[in-house]
Amino acid sequence: MLKSTLIRAAEAGAAVMREYFQGEFYISNKEGINNLVTEADHASEKAIFSVIREDFPDHFLLSEEAGAITMDSNYKWIIDPIDGTVNFAHGLPLCCVSIGVEQAGEMILGAVYNPFINEFFFAQRGYGASLNDRKINVSSETSVAKSCLVTGFPYTYLDQPNGPLEVFARLIRGGVPVRRLGSAAMDLCWVASGRFDGFYEHKLNAWDSAAGFLIVEEAGGRVSDFTGGKYSPYQPHIIASNGNIHDELVDVVNGRHSTF
Ligand code: IPD
Ligand code: CA
Ligand code: CA
Repeated sequence: MLKSTLIRAAEAGAAVMREYFQGEFYISNKEGINNLVTEADHASEKAIFSVIREDFPDHFLLSEEAGAITMDSNYKWIIDPIDGTVNFAHGLPLCCVSIGVEQAGEMILGAVYNPFINEFFFAQRGYGASLNDRKINVSSETSVAKSCLVTGFPYTYLDQPNGPLEVFARLIRGGVPVRRLGSAAMDLCWVASGRFDGFYEHKLNAWDSAAGFLIVEEAGGRVSDFTGGKYSPYQPHIIASNGNIHDELVDVVNGRHSTF
C-alpha cells in the first residue's frame, strides 16, 4: 500500500507539472531574489497531499511549501512538489517531483519523477533502485580526475572557506567536468544511474535529498555529509558518489586533496 500510494502521489504531482509547464502561471519570490515559487508548486503539493491523505490520514507530512504537518506517527512523507523550480519557471525540462518516506527515522522508500523526459526513479530500502522499472547501478569510475561530477549552488551565496565556488573552481581548474542541472533530486538520481560519478552540494533541505539519497544508496552508491560520516537529510551538506571515489571527493570538498 505504501509503495502504490507513493507512486500515485508522484504521478499526481507530475500531472500538475505537465499541466502548467510552458503555460501562464503566477510566480513569486521567497528569500533570495531568484528563489521562486510558482502556482504549480502549490498545485502539485495539493495533488500529492490529497493522494497521501486518502490512504494515510494520520501520517506526518513535511513538504517544501506547506512546511511540517505534524502528526504523532511512525511515518513521515518528505515532499518536494517541484524540485528544479527555476528550471520549471524558465521552461527547462530539468525538474521533477521528489517524495521520500521515512519509517521510525529511517528512509524506506523514495520516488523521483521527471514527467518531461519520462524518467521515474524508485527505491525501496533493501530492494535496489530502478529507472522506469529497470534496475540501475552506479558507475565504476575509480578516480576523481576521470570523473564527471555534478553540483548545485544555493540561492543566497555562502561566503565561507571551502564554499561552493571554491570547490567548483578547484575541480574546474583541475580539468574535471562539473555539471549544474538545477535539481538536486535529479543530480542524485543521475549518480544512481551511473551518468555522473559524484555529486556534492553545500546547502540542501530534507525535501531536496530525501528520496534521492536512498536511490543512490540502493543503486550501490555511498552518501555522506562533508566529514564522510552517516548522511542525514536534516543537515545541509551532501556528498553522493559511486562509492569508489567517495573518500577522494570528501578530501576535495574539504580542501585536503593534493591535486585539486
Ligand atoms: C533547489 C534545487 C537546486 C539546488 C537548490 C534547491 P528547488 O530546489 O534542488 O538544484 O541547488 O539548493 O533549493 O528550489 O528547485 O525546489
Ligand atoms: Ca528542492
Ligand atoms: Ca521545490
